[in-house]
Amino acid sequence: MEVLKAANEREADGTRVMHMEVGEPGAGTPAKVLAAAARALKEDPLGYTEALGLPELRRAIAGHYRDAYGLAVPEERIAVTTGSSGGFLLTLVSAFDAGDRIGLGVPYYPAYTNMVRALNLEAVPIATTARTHFQPTPELVAQAGRLDGLLVASPANPTGSMLNDAELSALSAYCEAEGIRLISDEIYHGITYGAPAVSALAHGLNAVVLNGFSKYFCMTGWRLGWMVLPDDLLRPVERIAQNLFVSPPNISQRAAVAAFGCREELDANVAVYAENRRLLLDELPEIGIKDLAPADGAFYIFANVSHLTNDSSDWCRRLLDEAAVAITPGVDFDPERGAAYVRVSFAGSTDDVRETIRRLRDWLA
Ligand SMILES: Cc1ncc(COP(=O)(O)O)c(C=O)c1O
Repeated sequence: MEVLKAANEREADGTRVMHMEVGEPGAGTPAKVLAAAARALKEDPLGYTEALGLPELRRAIAGHYRDAYGLAVPEERIAVTTGSSGGFLLTLVSAFDAGDRIGLGVPYYPAYTNMVRALNLEAVPIATTARTHFQPTPELVAQAGRLDGLLVASPANPTGSMLNDAELSALSAYCEAEGIRLISDEIYHGITYGAPAVSALAHGLNAVVLNGFSKYFCMTGWRLGWMVLPDDLLRPVERIAQNLFVSPPNISQRAAVAAFGCREELDANVAVYAENRRLLLDELPEIGIKDLAPADGAFYIFANVSHLTNDSSDWCRRLLDEAAVAITPGVDFDPERGAAYVRVSFAGSTDDVRETIRRLRDWLA
């Protein structure tokens, strides 16, 4: 967000900045979702809804698990939340006590550690490397000492790396055996470039699954997510959600019911990301940026630039000042090793990706 602020300041003088820093889809909200929202504005008083969400939307989400994954998820297990961020907060508050230790693979989405710490929980970093394609394994988790929770994300931000079925199954089994609560962030599901993403729900209903409408469904500003909960957390989450949020936003929920009927439009967006990714994976090595994390899903490339700088924050600042390209330094994702990395988001247009590559090539030359 700081890079975005600096990029916007740079733009104020009329410069066209390439926004490769933003972690949100360039495409707008799908047409049918907008139409459903317009209908709701006219026809509905838009008061509070049930704390766990509109029954109609919970049913539609259960239908999504049936249609997209072939999984039977009872709608009673689904809680609609204010973004998946709201779901993460509810998970931490309901499942853990102050001082509990939550393991997370590094590099990570920085809000995770900040929320964990804000709640007096302990964030236990589990350093991952290219050897395990930047994902935790049971061996790495075991080295972290006693844990109360483990958070995994597949596809992950900032690396785009994924856990395959066997890997997720092994982590699930490990957590089950060790009494560790598994939290699976599945917010980038639907945005994959090879095998589809596997849900932790395929390995039982004990994990807490976080998902939402911000990424694949292109609805960031509607602030809507969902969780799939194990039995023991249903009532606690319902009661805490009532107190923290009263209900998720009504109009967003009415609009989101239509999101599951927008696959064609949404898959066309993913096809744009796929072309953007192909261009970057082809061209970045040509201009000397060769060490790239897997980028199997999501819309990010996490690149090692240690041969070009020992301070990626300064490097990104100069790139913005001198070439008007905004990308994100790695320090927030990895406090220890992040000065060697940058994250490039390719969720925008293909023309912008081409222009970014051209500017980068000239700047590096
Ligand atoms: C990995 C990951 N999880 C969760 C979120 C939060 O998304 P939201 O609260 O919009 O659902 C983000 C946003 O960038 C993310 O990258």
